[in-house]
Formats: sequence, C-alpha cells, structure tokens
Amino acid sequence: MGVRYIGSKARVAEAIVDLAGPPDGGRFVDAFSGTGAVAAVAANRGWAVTVNDSLPSAVSMSVGAIVGLGNVSFARLGGYFRAVEMLNAVTPHAGFLHAEYSPASKHHSGVERKYFTEANAAKLDAMRSLIRRWDSAGEIDVTEEHLLLADLMQAANGVANISGTYGCFLKDWTSTALRSVSVVPRFLPQRTTDVVASVKDVFAVPTTTQDTVYFDPPYTKRQYSAYYHLLETLHAGDSPDVGGVTGLRPWQSKASDFSYKTRALDALTRLVLGTKASRVLLSYSNEGHVHQAHLVNALTEAGSVTLHPIQQIGRYRPNARASASGDTVSEYVIEVMPVQLNVAAINEPIRSAATA
Ligand SMILES: C[S@@+](CC[C@H](N)C(=O)[O-])C[C@H]1O[C@@H](n2cnc3c(N)ncnc32)[C@H](O)[C@@H]1O
Repeated sequence: MGVRYIGSKARVAEAIVDLAGPPDGGRFVDAFSGTGAVAAVAANRGWAVTVNDSLPSAVSMSVGAIVGLGNVSFARLGGYFRAVEMLNAVTPHAGFLHAEYSPASKHHSGVERKYFTEANAAKLDAMRSLIRRWDSAGEIDVTEEHLLLADLMQAANGVANISGTYGCFLKDWTSTALRSVSVVPRFLPQRTTDVVASVKDVFAVPTTTQDTVYFDPPYTKRQYSAYYHLLETLHAGDSPDVGGVTGLRPWQSKASDFSYKTRALDALTRLVLGTKASRVLLSYSNEGHVHQAHLVNALTEAGSVTLHPIQQIGRYRPNARASASGDTVSEYVIEVMPVQLNVAAINEPIRSAATA
C-alpha cells in the first residue's frame, strides 16, 4: 500500500464542488486543503482558488494539484520536464533523511528506522538540496518550488516502507520500497490558475462576502502533524531533533483543536460563525468527534443550514482484514448560508436558485 492521506476527499471532490455551483466571481477558499483534491476540482471548473493548511507540506501538495502550465514556466531551468530530469539525475548525498530514516539511523541514533532504503534516502536528500539551491539562486519562483516539493513528496510516498501513513515503518521491506526513487512529472492543464496559498491556522484565513469557503477539518484524534511528520521534514529540508522508534519531529505546536473531542464542537462553531464568506460548506463524518445533530443545531445560529449526505466513502483500510469487513464512513456536507445573506438572496434570484 502507498501513502493515504487521512480524510482525503479525492473520491467525492466532484460532488462537493457541485454544491458550490459554477464560479460566481468570488474565490473558492479551501481552508483545510490537505492534498488539494477539492481545490483541484474547483480550479478545473474555473474558480479562482485559495488553498490553506497549517502544514506547509500540505500547502505545497495543494498548489501542485491546482497549478496549470501558465503558473510554472521554469523559464530559468529550461522548462518543467528539464527541471524534473535534473532532479532525477542528482548524485545521492547522505544527509538528514539518510541519517534518521534509513537503516543507517542505527549507527546515528541507535534505532534502525526503515522508512526508506539507504540509497533512496540519500537520493531524496540530494534532490531536496538541489531544490533549495535553485530557490536560493532565484532559479525558481515560489509556485515552481511548491510544485517541485509536491513532486518530491509524491516520489518519496512511492517508495516509503509504510502502511498508509508515516506513523510507523514496516519491519520488512515491501517490493515498492526497494525500487529506486524517481520524480515523475505530472500532467499540467493548459491554464493559469488564479491561486493564493497560505500556511495559517484556519482561524486566520481571510474571507470576503464574495467567497465560498470549504472547511474539511480533521474529525478524529489523529494529528496530521504526527502522521505525516516525515513529509514535513522532507518539505522543510531541515534537521530537527527527532526521537523514539518512529523518529517523530516535534509536532505538538501544530496539534489541531479539531482533533480533540472536548474542543471540536466549539472550534467548528466559532469557525463558521467567524467567516465572512457568502456560503460555507463544511465536511464532516458520522464517525467524527461531534454528533451530527449537535453540529447542525449549533450552526443554525450562523444562518440557514442544509445537510447534504455525500456518497459512502470506503474507510481508510490499513490491512487486509479491515478491507474484508468493507466498512464505510458516512460523510456529509453541511451548507450554511450566513444570516445576512438570506436577506440579500431575495434580491439575487439567480444565485439563490443555484444554491437551492
Ligand atoms: C481532513 S484533512 C483535509 C483533506 C483534504 N480536503 C483532501 O481532500 O486532501 C484536514 C486538514 O486540515 C489540516 N488542519 C488541521 N488543523 C488545522 C488548523 N487549525 N488550521 C489549518 N489547517 C488545519 C490538516 O493538516 C489536514 O491537512
């Protein structure tokens, strides 16, 4: 199994963006963007898109998912394909990933961590250094850097010796982990996406009355900063103090309120009440910390609330036995039209019909 992003909406992104209707002049703000799967569908439909996540690695994944050819010319490197070719041609160089996340860690920190083979870890170290050099020398701009980092993380995911997340590594090597790591250029659509990207706590993401905001918060106790710690380190290219068998980087400062059962309802309510957007779409799950009825009840304070069940999503399945049980998670989207806009809608029959 490769890497799975917990809570990814890739399989239901079209249905979610359907609820937003066609682009209406405002921005589609994906404020917990994760992999960018939902923002990508919105961009494909012509929305101007804002992506945000508290994890820098997720923001780069999201930008990578939504840019078009017009966003990333790689003019100083001879084009996107040439840049990827140069990345793949680097000479491996043992750096931090090699020291901490390959079996070489046994000599370095006394724990043998088998996230990557030594050869792949050294290659990833060298690729990350090359992207940093390009950035420091002004050879790439910030959007091109996001895209290359997204591609690099995808390459790492392809050879990671894990079962779904970076929460732990496997004892025995999988056949994919033994392959040589390689960056594969992605298909880029013929367009220039209007994209704004930020790494912020969701409460600090600005919205205007023109915008449609999509909130897809964590709904269980799993903290993304811990489960995807290695992507954060690859993305940052830094050398944090890591410890324990799994080599976790310090992650607590990024712990999310939405992942604590005792804080989740209050955080969700404050979030929706605090936005200025003309329409709010909030994804949640019947398996989440907050009961559906409590959530709907709390959000009616913000405006008119409509509950949209989204098709059953196959549950994140870490092993064959769980797969066989075929359990599903019941996802839904709560649409909130803030109070002040219910008045405005009377004068806007077209927009009002689109959201009915
Ligand atoms: C359910 S995932 C989003 C999945 C995304 N819609 C997708 O399809 O890939 C939740 C995301 O919220 C981010 N997150 C958690 N707490 C946050 C906060 N307080 N502010 C911003 N982002 C946060 C996590 O890092 C994670 O990427």
